[in-house]
Amino acid sequence: MAAVITGWGKCVPPGILTNEDIAGFMDTSDEWIRTRTGIHERRISHVDMSELAYVASCRAIAAAGLEAGDIDGIILTSASPEIIIPNAASRLQERLGVRGIGAMDINSGCCGFVYSMAVAHGLIATGTHKRILVAGAERLSFFIDWTQRDSAVLFGDGAGAAVVEAGPEDEGLLAAELGCESEAGSALMIPNFGSGMDRWGPDAGRLVLQFDGQEIFKRAVRAMCSLSEAALDVAGLSLKDVDLIIPHQANLRIIESVGKRLGFADRADQVFVNLQKYGNTSAASIPLALTEALEQGKVKPGALILFPAFGAGLTRAAMVMRWGQRVDPINTSPVELPPCELSARELIQTSLDFCREGIEAVR
Ligand code: ACO
Repeated sequence: MAAVITGWGKCVPPGILTNEDIAGFMDTSDEWIRTRTGIHERRISHVDMSELAYVASCRAIAAAGLEAGDIDGIILTSASPEIIIPNAASRLQERLGVRGIGAMDINSGCCGFVYSMAVAHGLIATGTHKRILVAGAERLSFFIDWTQRDSAVLFGDGAGAAVVEAGPEDEGLLAAELGCESEAGSALMIPNFGSGMDRWGPDAGRLVLQFDGQEIFKRAVRAMCSLSEAALDVAGLSLKDVDLIIPHQANLRIIESVGKRLGFADRADQVFVNLQKYGNTSAASIPLALTEALEQGKVKPGALILFPAFGAGLTRAAMVMRWGQRVDPINTSPVELPPCELSARELIQTSLDFCREGIEAVR
């Protein structure tokens, strides 16, 4: 039994933080950010991560022609839950108004959606589940140090979701390769957040984002290529069979390097990119990109799609999926985020004051 995506949806908060906005309070420029990353703007959320996940999930469930009560399992992948106990998937379940079904979190950084799809596939293949909701959502703006220009310009908030159902053997998820380069985990780490943190020390509340962009860049290109080839190999397919690549959206230069190494330099239109609008939304990036690829008609019936990813961990992953015949949603959902009176720039002001001047500035 294969795991087939039958519904898809996204949710991006309305607040847009442009490169120019950031250049207004930090030593950077629109030109630097565009040329080094490909990012033009990102979203800043006024609601919790699980609310972004909820709206994307309602849209995915409607697209599958289902009701929330038809779902028999929830997987929520995120590195930015608003609460640790209980898990965020239970908060999503409550918002959806469903009762009793299993709800689990997966935290695997930017590879979270591919990891989660592999788990959903396993649950469906064993016959214990029939319709699993897989949501990827992030409110990464919570973690950003607005004085750290190398990382602050990269990330954004958003959500994407998919309904995964049992389908024919030759459709859906054909292969998934998962890995982790834990020896280099400190290249992207927030070491002072979690049950190991110093709750009472002088730096309590000040999150430290350890970030080595160049190390991540090199490893990302290498791993996304090798796992893509490995996943295709397992599926008995090759790169020439691939109709569309939907990569994790971290940096346009990473995506271009991966595309070039995989032989897509002359087929750039077959490599989907939307990071210019959202930056790196980590676990949300692939389901958000998949939804937009479908909305833009880039996913053709029967297409072979490759999804390479790399992220905090440092996790690496790639999956190969054969799309079914339906590329249009069955229904749409009326659910929307609550409106927000504040601009994205206003939404980050308190965090910016705190990052610059410490706790006294925001008391
Ligand atoms: N504005 C202006 N200058 C900047 C900025 C900025 N926002 N950030 C860094 N610089 C400066 C640096 O200080 C450095 O100046 P120096 O030469 O005087 O020291 C210069 O620009 C070059 O810095 P590099 O780090 O060499 O820049 P690089 O071209 O490697 O790009 C970047 C940096 C964009 C972070 C890149 O390495 C990258 O995208 N890496 C991937 C990281 C990532 O996306 N991680 C997310 C999670 S993992 C994942 O999703 C794959």
